[in-house]
Amino acid sequence: MTSPDTRNDREKVVSKLPSRLRQELKVRAAQFGIDIQDAVDAEITTWRGLGSNLSPIDTAGAESFATFLPPEQWAGFRADCKDRGVSLIQGLAQSVQLWLDSNPSPAVRRPAITRRIVVCNQKGGVGKTAITAGAGEALAEDPSVLVPVRVSKHFAALLEEDGEGNVPLALEDLPGLGQRVLLVDFDPQGHLTKQLGHEPLPMGGDSLTNHMAGDGKGELRDVIVTIDEDRFGGRLHLLPACTDAFLLDVRLASVRAREAALERALAPLEGDYDVVLVDCPPSLGLSMDAASYYGRRRPEEVAGNSGVLIVVQAEDSSADAYDLLTSQIEDMRSDLALDLDYLGIVVNHYDARRGYIATSSLQSWMDIKDPRVVGVIGDLKEQKEAVRVKRPLLAYAPRCEQSVALRALAREISK
Ligand SMILES: Nc1ncnc2c1ncn2[C@@H]1O[C@H](COP(=O)(O)OP(=O)(O)OP(=O)(O)O)[C@@H](O)[C@H]1O
Ligand SMILES: [Mg+2]
Repeated sequence: MTSPDTRNDREKVVSKLPSRLRQELKVRAAQFGIDIQDAVDAEITTWRGLGSNLSPIDTAGAESFATFLPPEQWAGFRADCKDRGVSLIQGLAQSVQLWLDSNPSPAVRRPAITRRIVVCNQKGGVGKTAITAGAGEALAEDPSVLVPVRVSKHFAALLEEDGEGNVPLALEDLPGLGQRVLLVDFDPQGHLTKQLGHEPLPMGGDSLTNHMAGDGKGELRDVIVTIDEDRFGGRLHLLPACTDAFLLDVRLASVRAREAALERALAPLEGDYDVVLVDCPPSLGLSMDAASYYGRRRPEEVAGNSGVLIVVQAEDSSADAYDLLTSQIEDMRSDLALDLDYLGIVVNHYDARRGYIATSSLQSWMDIKDPRVVGVIGDLKEQKEAVRVKRPLLAYAPRCEQSVALRALAREISK
């Protein structure tokens, strides 16, 4: 069945395809960033050029499949199917299988140097822990499954909402990023650990604090836990907090080059991960110094591979805390001569229905330009619900507005 497609000079064709092939075609085309119609066009061209028939494919249960092809392609394909004595559905299934076989899933892109992302702001309750968890989850999602992502090229579009909180940003289905991720709970409060359904480490055993103080008993790797959800496929890990972190400053008092203590503790683990995210406590001081040092640009590392991600709220009182934080970071940069990159600002708890206070505040964060806003996350109930049931947000509500925005953030800071 055909009808003209006025959009792009192609004609619409409707046939049938087994659902397995349809699904694989959709994912593979997204992995290569090409249109399904172009993939089908290419696969039919290849099939028509074959010297002999292929073995038949099981097409039982094939479902309706529509796409757009250049004029003549479909008619020629039908004629070829007839000549070769195969049904149209069989010919199409063979073509799709051929394309899938000759275009295997691309390997996940892994950074040359493990990325270190330090999520910080000394102001409490802005959403550091929520953003650390959500960005880490988004980075670890299955690369062979498509997930909805908010295409966030222009956050300015958020200021054009329709008065009911709806924003005109497009959604796109994209493959998961498939990164091996370590979430580090660097806050003695242990919120990240508890939110993800784990217990803080017992006092007196091995812990990050002990390793930072040079008192590690075994391998730090041995206290790491896996966040067990299918969509993360064993790629998302957590280094739980321990209450002994309240004593970090005291414990580090006699340690040489204290600012490098976090790096010394985590460096042995880096080979196992593509990305390490550090959830900082709401304080400045030694822990922030150690975290900033850990996030600095290393020799050989490209700018923006690692750095600090600052979480703020879309309200004015965040601005003072931001100034304090950035001045500490500037001091660190000059005192220790560090190359420390800003990965950007995440505006959290954004709710356009709050009117001018929210929109003008978002505008002022966007006006900063350097660092720029790399994510805007709405204030939504799913985040609190996920915390309540102690599950990762992206597993609890994978299609909710917040998950969609967190995936956009993960892609924005992965460029
Ligand atoms: N976008 C959001 N929408 C709704 N609730 C949110 C959102 N972000 C965070 N929250 C909730 O707000 C509270 C504070 O968030 P979170 O613990 O992430 O902040 P924090 O900056 O890590 O706090 P602290 O400074 O204590 O470490 C939590 O209950 C969290 O579930
Ligand atoms: Mg926190």
